[in-house]
Amino acid sequence: MHILVTGGAGYIGSVVVEELIRQGERVTVLDNLSQGHRAAVHPEAAFYLGDLSDRETLRTLFSRQRFDAVMHFASNTLVGESMEQPFKYIGDNVVNGLNLLRTMVEHGVHRFILSSTANLFSQPVQIPIAETESIVPGSPYGESKFILERILDWLDRIYGLRYASLRYFNAAGATSERGEDHDPETHLIPLVLRVALGQRDHITVYGTDYPTRDGTCVRDYIHVLDLAQAHILALRALNEGSRTYNLGNGLGYTVREVIETARQVTGHPIPARDGARRPGDPPVLVASSDKIWRELGWRPRYPALRDIIQSAWDWHRAHPYGYEDEDGSGPRNTP
Ligand SMILES: NC(=O)c1ccc[n+]([C@@H]2O[C@H](COP(=O)([O-])OP(=O)(O)OC[C@H]3O[C@@H](n4cnc5c(N)ncnc54)[C@H](O)[C@@H]3O)[C@@H](O)[C@H]2O)c1
Repeated sequence: MHILVTGGAGYIGSVVVEELIRQGERVTVLDNLSQGHRAAVHPEAAFYLGDLSDRETLRTLFSRQRFDAVMHFASNTLVGESMEQPFKYIGDNVVNGLNLLRTMVEHGVHRFILSSTANLFSQPVQIPIAETESIVPGSPYGESKFILERILDWLDRIYGLRYASLRYFNAAGATSERGEDHDPETHLIPLVLRVALGQRDHITVYGTDYPTRDGTCVRDYIHVLDLAQAHILALRALNEGSRTYNLGNGLGYTVREVIETARQVTGHPIPARDGARRPGDPPVLVASSDKIWRELGWRPRYPALRDIIQSAWDWHRAHPYGYEDEDGSGPRNTP
């Protein structure tokens, strides 16, 4: 299969590309490098520098190549920023997704995988969270993913476009070659590891009075390679129809447990300071992945938090300042 991966220079997309190529697929990456890194793109993937807002770029790309499927990772991804810049999220994420989908339909490409999110479930009633849970997006970011899910449902009915929407909880971990390098970084594990690398002097724990076992938020961390595997299984199942899955380990860890595990893995004391709750952070977000277990036989290969953090630590130690910039100007995260 020839697969177009938007956002394939980003964290999750680059690992999925690595895994697709390892499994013998042909891959083209489209990325504007606003967050991604040219060096993260597997050398056997074709790379197009371009923006999804540019319909002409998309038309040119689709008329020159024949794609069998599209995996869509490219997105604005920051929940907090989306509360301050709703148009960038509800606007750009939706319009860019529509540009891509319209070009696909115009060129007869009918298989699509969407990176959706746990931010659809800001007020879960039942933990672990199943696909049957009520959808209450927690931010304009979550809303943008939900709108795309609904659009996909119509495109399936009208054009027979088969899609899988994968609602990830917290992606984490790394392969030996590819890891997490965001600017700004907002995710807990890489932030904790930057303390262990000596790049930050402490980690702030946002909220210590939640109704959880140690008062800090509980989140579900899924290894990025397990996510990659789920994408490939979902892609292969599309012939049998569209589908939506929640994707996590089903295991929840508190912020304090993550920090403690990182201390054990790195041998660094990782000082932590207590801070106030952040608005909109639900106390517990843990996925039920029963549906994808049952329907696709997906099983996480790296469910243990220690293994997830170890893989991230190995990558961060090998790339303490992230990926080198393409123009040779040096690493972006130079302190
Ligand atoms: N990281 C997580 O824990 C997590 C959880 C749930 C959902 N997601 C979703 O997974 C996807 C990937 O997340 P990530 O953490 O790898 O993010 P990322 O920022 O590392 O990757 C996104 C990539 O898309 C590119 N991009 C952004 N806008 C673009 C545009 N208009 N045109 C072309 N390229 C563009 C960026 O340069 C970047 O390489 C996103 O859609 C995100 O919403 C991530």
